[in-house]
Amino acid sequence: MSARTKIKALLESGKTDIDVTVKGWVRTFRNNQFIALNDGSTNSNLQIVVDFENTDPALLKRITTGAALSVSGRLVESLGKGQSVDVKATSIEILGDSDPEKYPLQPKKHSLEFLREIAHLRFRTNTFGAIFRVRNTLSFAVHTFFQERGFVYLHTPVITASDAEGAGETFHVTNFDLANPPKTETGEVDFKQDFFGRATNLTVSGQLEGELGAMALSDIYTFGPTFRAENSNTTRHLAEFWMIEPEMAFYDAKDNADLAEALLKYVISYVLDKNKEDLEFLSQRLLDEEKQKPQNERSEMTLLEKLQFCLNNDFERLTYTEAIDILKESTPNKKKKFQYLVEGWGTDLQSEHERYLVEKHFKKPVILTDYPKEIKSFYMRQNDDGKTVAAMDILFPGIGEIVGGSQREERLDKLEQRMDEIGIPKEELWWYLDTRRFGGCPHSGFGLGFERLVLFVTGMGNIRDVIPFPRFPKNAEF
Ligand code: 4AD
Ligand code: MG
Repeated sequence: MSARTKIKALLESGKTDIDVTVKGWVRTFRNNQFIALNDGSTNSNLQIVVDFENTDPALLKRITTGAALSVSGRLVESLGKGQSVDVKATSIEILGDSDPEKYPLQPKKHSLEFLREIAHLRFRTNTFGAIFRVRNTLSFAVHTFFQERGFVYLHTPVITASDAEGAGETFHVTNFDLANPPKTETGEVDFKQDFFGRATNLTVSGQLEGELGAMALSDIYTFGPTFRAENSNTTRHLAEFWMIEPEMAFYDAKDNADLAEALLKYVISYVLDKNKEDLEFLSQRLLDEEKQKPQNERSEMTLLEKLQFCLNNDFERLTYTEAIDILKESTPNKKKKFQYLVEGWGTDLQSEHERYLVEKHFKKPVILTDYPKEIKSFYMRQNDDGKTVAAMDILFPGIGEIVGGSQREERLDKLEQRMDEIGIPKEELWWYLDTRRFGGCPHSGFGLGFERLVLFVTGMGNIRDVIPFPRFPKNAEF
């Protein structure tokens, strides 16, 4: 294969009057003369100028939208508008034909819903090219942030026998013939005979195992897929999503919040720097989309302004109790505009409440702390008031909850007492409790939902559009 230059490198080189070979897919072919070629390295197409009078008409016919080409030619300054350079083709090879009658992606605007149905091809659109390059940069930025701070990347298991959140919304993993599983004498499914000798499921969180690592390595993080069988058909939920879960020994709740805020700012700043062109494109896409909406539903800031705003402002920090007071007195609550009215202390916040706080009241990211223990997980550290735990949720504009975390309960007696109250079997989590028996220490951690981060940064409206192949109820295509 001849040496091939990626279009991004070629456009950035600033060179002209050199011979090049480029490879990519045809976006459009105009006047039998101008090919817009894209190879995914950048949002920009490269214009190929074809000497059509001296090109075999049979070859010209095969230059169709979607076809894969190898083009060699001279890189020259462009005479046309809209691009700085062209390639004057001296040879064109069709690597893969694309029947224009059958190719689903026409050079026009397709709806996001339609593109979801052809998720195997949607990478070839400007929007999805930009989204997945941004997603790539964000994941690299996450690793860079933690690696620069001496955190150890820990791979926690995907298959587990524990349900970290105690929510019970797990996918079972089994080797049984489902029509005919072995039964015990009392007629229950006998998991002792299953592959792992016990009932197992896909992980809902790597946190508990992450804590074990932190009790020796000090600072660890996980970054992997997690699975939840909640039947939530929303624009914010997936059945398979990626989560980043750092866990830090000797961190208290404030250290935890500081780290989360620093992480979010770091990765946003990183991607603003590395993917400027993609984010400018996505910002413009959002502006165009919002033109269809009535004025009062449009965003006050462009996507780029919103990202910049996040970097330049401290996140608002307040307790759950303070938030409830604000919500109780809020106009939508008094005018009964909320679907769930906020009446008293103790109830969980709905996403309409979270969004009111972030988008209407504070107009910036919010870190909510110290929730009632009844609505949070057993492992969160109990506060002295006997009512609340050292929990933290970070709420983002347009997203709602993006981070959930807490200081962990390191006191064995308190932890066991809470597990008893909730009915979590202690013998199953003997290994977790061991860290409290042997050299336990104050520690904290949180989980950042990666797709919610990508959603925020790209300005997209549906979480199914920021993961290559989304998994949600009644769908596991591709
Ligand atoms: O708040 P969650 O459930 O917290 C935990 O799992 C803790 N074990 C984390 C920890 O302390 N180590 O989930 C954490 C984040 C949420 O804030 C949200 O961003 C994301 O994960 N998330 C989802 N994202 C997409 N689809 C879903 N179904 C999600 N459920 C949670
Ligand atoms: Mg949560």
